[in-house]
Order: sequence, then C-alpha cells, then structure tokens
Amino acid sequence: MALPSTQARLGEIDRYRAQVLTHPLARGISPEEVRDHLAQVPRQRFPRVAYANRGADPCIQPRGGFPLFEAQQQLTQQLSAAGADFIPLTIDSYTRQNQYDTATQLLHRSEEEGKNYLNGYPLISHGYELTRQLYCDLEKPVSLRHGTPDARLLAEVAIASGIAEIEGGAICYCLPYSEGFPIDRCLLYWQYVDRICAVNSTEGAPIHRESFGPLTATLVPPAIVVAVEIIEALLAAEQGVTSFAVSFGQTGSMIQDIATATVLRELTRYYLDEFRFESVQTYLVYHQWMGQFPVQRERAAALIACSAAISSIISADKIVVKTIDEAFGVPRPEINAEACDSVRYVLRTFRSAKAVTSPMIEHETALIRSEAESILEAVFNLPGSAFWESIYRAFQTGLLDVPFSPHADNANKLLSVRDGNGSVRIANAANVPISSEDARLERELLESREDRADKTYRQMLNDIRLMV
Ligand code: 5AD
Repeated sequence: MALPSTQARLGEIDRYRAQVLTHPLARGISPEEVRDHLAQVPRQRFPRVAYANRGADPCIQPRGGFPLFEAQQQLTQQLSAAGADFIPLTIDSYTRQNQYDTATQLLHRSEEEGKNYLNGYPLISHGYELTRQLYCDLEKPVSLRHGTPDARLLAEVAIASGIAEIEGGAICYCLPYSEGFPIDRCLLYWQYVDRICAVNSTEGAPIHRESFGPLTATLVPPAIVVAVEIIEALLAAEQGVTSFAVSFGQTGSMIQDIATATVLRELTRYYLDEFRFESVQTYLVYHQWMGQFPVQRERAAALIACSAAISSIISADKIVVKTIDEAFGVPRPEINAEACDSVRYVLRTFRSAKAVTSPMIEHETALIRSEAESILEAVFNLPGSAFWESIYRAFQTGLLDVPFSPHADNANKLLSVRDGNGSVRIANAANVPISSEDARLERELLESREDRADKTYRQMLNDIRLMV
C-alpha cells in the first residue's frame, strides 16, 4: 500500500534543477533572480488573489497562442480588454514535444514571412526575458496551456517569465496526448514541475497548478475524471503545492455536469484533508465542450452560451472558453475576444442560477461518488514504495482506464456509451474497480436508452459528437 505522503518531496531538487537549467535555451535562469522577479510581480497576477477577488461569477479564461511576439502581445491586450480574467499562453506543438530546434526554425520562418508556421507561442525559443515584456502592464494571472509530458524546462521558463499558473499533470498530459511517452517517467517529470512550483511559491503568492480533467474529452465516465483529478491534486500536494484547481469538461448531460461538480469539489477536499494536506487551497474549473464542435457558427455560439450558464449553476471558479471558430482551427483574436464577451454576457444574465438539484441529480451524485471512492481506495491499496508507483501500477493493471486514450499502456478496455438523457454510462467497467452494485446501476440507467439494441458505429460517433 502506498499512500500520498507529506514526506514525499523530491530530494535534492537543486541538483536536478542544475541539470535542467544548464540547457542553453534556459538562457542562464537563476533560481534566486527568479524569486526576486516573482516578488516584484503584482499580486493580482497570482491565481489565488484573482480567485479571492472574483465576486459572484466564474472567472473567464480563453486559450490563445501565436508564434510572433507582437501577435501574442496584441492578443494579450485584446483578450484582457474583452474581459478575460485569466490570460492564456498556449504553447505550440513542437515545444510541447521538446522539439525546440524545430520550434525555433519555424519561429524564424514565421518572422521572415509574416505567416504562422506554429500553432502556439514557442516559449522556450523566445525565452524568459522577452516573455516577461509581454506582461509588463498586466494585472491578471497568465495561464500556461500546453499538453507536455516532459514540461520541466517549459515550466522553468514559464515561472521565470512571471507566469503563476501551470496547467497539466502526469496523467492528464500524458494519456490523452501521447502514444508512447513512458507513464512512469511522466510521473517523475511532473514531480519536478510540482516541486519547482512549490519552491517558487510564497504564502500569499503561490504558483498555482491546474489539472486538465477533460482527458480525451471522449466519453470519459465522470468517476474516472474525479479519480484522476484527485490523484493529481495529491501528487502536487506531496511536492508542496498549496494552490490547485481540479477541472472537468462539459459531459453533454446537465445532470451529470452538476453531479460531477459536486463530487469533485467534495472529494478533492476530503482526500486532501485525509492525507494531511489541509493547507492546500482548491478550486473548480469547468471546460466548455471539448469534443468536436459544430461547423455552423450559430450552433457553436449556442453551445458556448449553454455551457456558460452551466458554469454559473455549478459555481465554477473558472470557465475555460471555446470560440465559434473551434471547428476551423486557431481562432483570430477578435473571435476569441467575442467569445469572452458572450460568456460574460451569459454569466451576468444568469447570475442567480445556483445549486440546482433534483432526485435524478442526487442519484447521479451518489453513484459518481461511490464509484470514484472505490477506484481511489483500490489505487491506494496497490503496492509500491511511493504513491506515484501505485499510480503507475494502476495503469498497468487497468484500474485506471481512460477511454479513447492513444497511449499504448492504457488498458482501453472500459466501454462507455450515452444513456437516454445523454449521460456517459459505464457499459463494461473491465478492470476499473467499481462495486457490482454500481455496475448494476450503470446498466439499469443504460436501459433508459431506446436505441440501445442498435450499437452501430454511427451511433457511437453520435455519442462522441453529442448528436442525437
Ligand atoms: N490559440 C487559441 N486556441 C487554441 N487552442 C489550441 N491552440 C490554440 C491557439 N494557438 C484551443 C483549441 C483546442 C483547445 C485544446 O485549445 O480550442 O481545441
């Protein structure tokens, strides 16, 4: 049995850091200078402060990244002016895959030709000194959005740039994003990221971590999301992180969204306290629909408006916003700014929508809670000399199984489908350790689906695409 422990801090962080920081693209980052810089950064740039001041509505966070510095600067200003509460820095795919030379070459080509040859901001190629200048006048937190299994250097450069929110985690940035990146290495690399967030934190101004709960955003049962989010919160807490957001993606069922939010909030607090991480402050983040978006912009707008209202109902601390151009690629800044404005409009309009419940929602809440507890208890009971080893084993044995993960070491045995009200049901749990009573309840709820006998390929696609 390997439980999360307050003693689990990565030993000799300075030695590991010295290795990472000798990379030429670290450009001589000095841990002392970074700490001094962070002490000068306005307090409003730290998520804890932004969340404390948020008032009634969820904070609004778009995504966005362009290769050229000037374009990123302009995007930052436009999003801020449109009412974004968190400013994104979305990283290009080559940097995410640690292919820094390719990212640098394509950055130069983009600069020469005035065209975008990268799908995000190549933070490591630009470096921390230039990137600091993006945020000279900014009094809002910047959020690093990426998808990087080995984010050690990226996180160092981000923190050195004065970025106080790092998204990701060993599971959520590996299983959905990678086919072959070893899960055990990823767990250790993310220990490093969590640890440098902790050592760069001060009491009032912690470097904040956020997990990516949507995972593959493809028929992932809420209990799996809740278990993974809590595991990542515990892994971060083990390294000394004191500010952490769990998140999940819109499921396609309002009932399940409300139930998931309740369980995620309650159990995250419960398990952090249980393992003596009472000082960790937690937040709940809601992602607008992360699956395929409609090509019709009116429908995309409807989806965006609807999920904004749900974020208000579940009292999310933050909503991550999509745009009406989602189906077509990286959105233009104006379109991205419009999305922030539309979401703000809906949040203002439906401010009073709070704590909705019904017998169906209560039933769903109890089911997700029971399943998530069973999964977590089984993971805690796995052998290992440290908590991360148990997590690794959980994937090897299929106790944790992420539907539609491209990763070679994911079991891919759990089978999920939508029921009659659009909720994601576990049709076959495979090795995921939910109780036989919960498995029976899942099957019973599935009976509500009229076309259940017709398990066609097209029907599965419709489940995935949220089309009925
Ligand atoms: N700019 C804006 N949004 C982006 N996304 C990814 N890259 C960018 C970018 N450079 C958004 C897309 C995608 C989600 C994961 O992030 O909406 O679906």
